[in-house]
Amino acid sequence: MNLNRRKLISWFGLGWLATLLPSSLVGCSEATPNASAPAAPESVAAAPSGGFKLIGAVAQLDKNGSLLSDDKKVAVVRDPQDASKVVAVNPTCTHKGCTVEWKAANKEYVCPCHDAKFSASGAVKGGPTSTPLPKYAAKIENGQVLVSV
Ligand code: FES
Repeated sequence: MNLNRRKLISWFGLGWLATLLPSSLVGCSEATPNASAPAAPESVAAAPSGGFKLIGAVAQLDKNGSLLSDDKKVAVVRDPQDASKVVAVNPTCTHKGCTVEWKAANKEYVCPCHDAKFSASGAVKGGPTSTPLPKYAAKIENGQVLVSV
């Protein structure tokens, strides 16, 4: 009787192990969402590679003379030194934080608040600040303007 009880307990123990093992293995091998992993790209334009963010279309840039991101943290213009390239800056004025505006006629950003002036690449050209606008890497790919921010 004592031996039968031992056998019975050992069989139950093995049974538990047998029922838990497959679910444990599935739980370990199943892919879990990872917040730091990049999402699968929906299209080339929607998810540019290499940490670059889509700002807009080249056609829109050429039509308007400049592009401003929706959050107004990136401004892009054609490079005055080489029109086949684009230049991107943070358009927040380094004096007191107004948003600078691109003036194509003079190829410069002008601040509407206190008249600071900056080159296309953000260098100070005049006004009450001596701090340039932060510059970002920018490129054209498949008719899209991409900026690394
Ligand atoms: S905030 Fe731009 S010049 Fe003062």
